[in-house]
Amino acid sequence: MKKLMLICMAALLSLTVLAAGCGGGDKKPASSGGSGGSAKVLRVGTNADFAPFEFQDVNGKEYEGFDMDLIRAVAKEMGYKADIQNINFDGLIPALESGNLDLIISGMTINDERKQKVNFSDPYYKSGLTIIVKKDNTAIKKFSDLAGKKVAVQIGTTSAKEVRKINGVEVKELNSSADTFMELKAGGVDAVVNDRPVNDYYIAKSGVKDVRALDELLTSEDYGMAMSKKNPDLQKEVNAALKKLHENGEYDKIYKKWFGEAKK
Ligand code: ARG
Repeated sequence: MKKLMLICMAALLSLTVLAAGCGGGDKKPASSGGSGGSAKVLRVGTNADFAPFEFQDVNGKEYEGFDMDLIRAVAKEMGYKADIQNINFDGLIPALESGNLDLIISGMTINDERKQKVNFSDPYYKSGLTIIVKKDNTAIKKFSDLAGKKVAVQIGTTSAKEVRKINGVEVKELNSSADTFMELKAGGVDAVVNDRPVNDYYIAKSGVKDVRALDELLTSEDYGMAMSKKNPDLQKEVNAALKKLHENGEYDKIYKKWFGEAKK
C-alpha cells in the first residue's frame, strides 16, 4: 500500500514537473493585468484533509469546504478561475516559494515564522487549538496534563509546534489530521491536538462515539491565505476581493453554510 502510494506520488510529481516545464498557456503564474478573454488561472494549493475547511467529496473528486468556497469566490471576484491542487501541508510553502503555486488556502495560521517566507492576506477566520481524548480518559483535562503522554499532531502545523513545548511529551507527527484521529482511535496515542473547528467537526460528523474535545483553547490563531513575496500585487488584489465579499454578504453566506451561524 505504502509502496503504491509512493509510486503514485512519484508519477504525480513528474507530471507536475512536465507541466511546469512545458510552460503551457493557462498554467502561467497569476499576475494582475494580462490578456482579456477567458478567465486567468489562479494556482491554489491546499491540504484537502481538513474538514470543514478543505476536503474531497465522497467520490474523491470535488474539493469542498469553507476555504474552497471562499477561494472560488475570491478568484471569481478577481476574474480568475481557481485551479485547486492537493498537497501535503508541509509541502505548501515550498511549492509557493518555488513558483509552482500562486496562493495557499489551507486553514493556515498567520504567524511570524511563516511571514518570513510568504505574504499573508488579511485574516479570514479565527481559530485556536484544542485537545481530543477518548471519553474514558480522565487523566487529561488541560494542556499541561499532556506532559509524559503520547500526542498525535499533523506535521508542519501550529499544533506540532505548540505540543513540542510541553515537557516530556511524546509527539507523533503524522501526515494528515485524518491520520491523527485514526491514531487515537487505534489507541496509538493518548490525545490529538488540532484546530478547534476541525476537532469539533470530526466529533459531530464522523460517527465516532467514544471521543470528546476538551474546552480549553490553547491559542488564538488567525487564518490567512499565503502568497509569494515576489507577487505583492496579488496580495493587494486578494485583500480587495476579500473586502468586497465581506461588504456584499457573500462571506457571511459561505460562513453560514459551513458553520451554521453568522460570524460573531
Ligand atoms: N492552522 C494550523 C496551521 O496553520 C493547521 C492547518 C492545517 N491545515 C490543513 N489543511 N491540514 O499550522
